[in-house]
Amino acid sequence: MVTRIATRATPDADPDWPYYRPVGRECELFELAFRHRLPLLLKGPTGCGKTRFVAHMAARLGRPLHTVACHDDLTAADLTGRHLLQGGETRWSDGPLTRAVREGGICYLDEVVEARRDVTVVIHPLTDDRRLLPLERTGEQLHAPPGFMLVVSYNPGYQHVLKNLKPSTRQRFVSIEFDFPPPAVEAEVLAAESGLSGERCAALVNLAGRLRALKGRDLDEGVSTRLLIYCATLVQAGMPIDEAAQYTLVEPLSDDPDIRAALRELIRMTFS
Ligand SMILES: Nc1ncnc2c1ncn2[C@@H]1O[C@H](COP(=O)(O)OP(=O)(O)OP(=O)(O)O)[C@@H](O)[C@H]1O
Ligand SMILES: [Mg+2]
Repeated sequence: MVTRIATRATPDADPDWPYYRPVGRECELFELAFRHRLPLLLKGPTGCGKTRFVAHMAARLGRPLHTVACHDDLTAADLTGRHLLQGGETRWSDGPLTRAVREGGICYLDEVVEARRDVTVVIHPLTDDRRLLPLERTGEQLHAPPGFMLVVSYNPGYQHVLKNLKPSTRQRFVSIEFDFPPPAVEAEVLAAESGLSGERCAALVNLAGRLRALKGRDLDEGVSTRLLIYCATLVQAGMPIDEAAQYTLVEPLSDDPDIRAALRELIRMTFS
């Protein structure tokens, strides 16, 4: 049974929400998952809009957002909390996951595959119908309220055999695959974020298509929407496009002199 959750009235757009241009039905899916208390997994390459999407949806649903950038030293205690020494006394201090559970917010674990194994032990009971967070050190068993949602993301491109999500973890999440938006949408995002004209943004997206075609052969990752926004921002600020492209699309993509020369040539051919 689905209980309706009091969220603020949701018109289609609100200038206070972080800007997010939907590509498909991801906003509807997020909202459905939230209302039905299902955890969500977002996978996709770097800089394609995953974090922005979560920030947008949290604002749209009127829920507080707790974001944790996972890394290989991140332990369960970093998420749940720990006893801290304060003025000669030890006091329990909630971690971001516990705070999100207590207040009915959204907890977003970015690059979840990087986290240590004990983290999955903590999130498992929260991601099935128990929606439970056991806090061993305080002896509490927190039941997640309806407003709580767990969202995790990772980049399958960086996947290492040892750093993959176990099936028992990944099969606990409704999953959406993200990719770079289709050209017209990506140009719209670039224009909105940088203020550069639609026509010049379309030319940058066209270049991105050519650079992305090199992925797998010469480059590990295709140029991200994030880098294209950097490029558009520098151009809008008055920098010539070939120079902006050098700083934002060549240098960040590769350290290899031959590959960089090939990228520069591609850029020159596109804009000459
Ligand atoms: N659909 C979109 N609508 C609005 N902005 C977008 C969209 N897609 C990408 N962006 C822009 O691209 C930038 C990078 O996106 P974001 O930080 O969300 O990437 P990410 O997928 O979380 O990357 P990473 O895996 O590196 O954390 C955002 O700051 C935003 O400006
Ligand atoms: Mg991100």
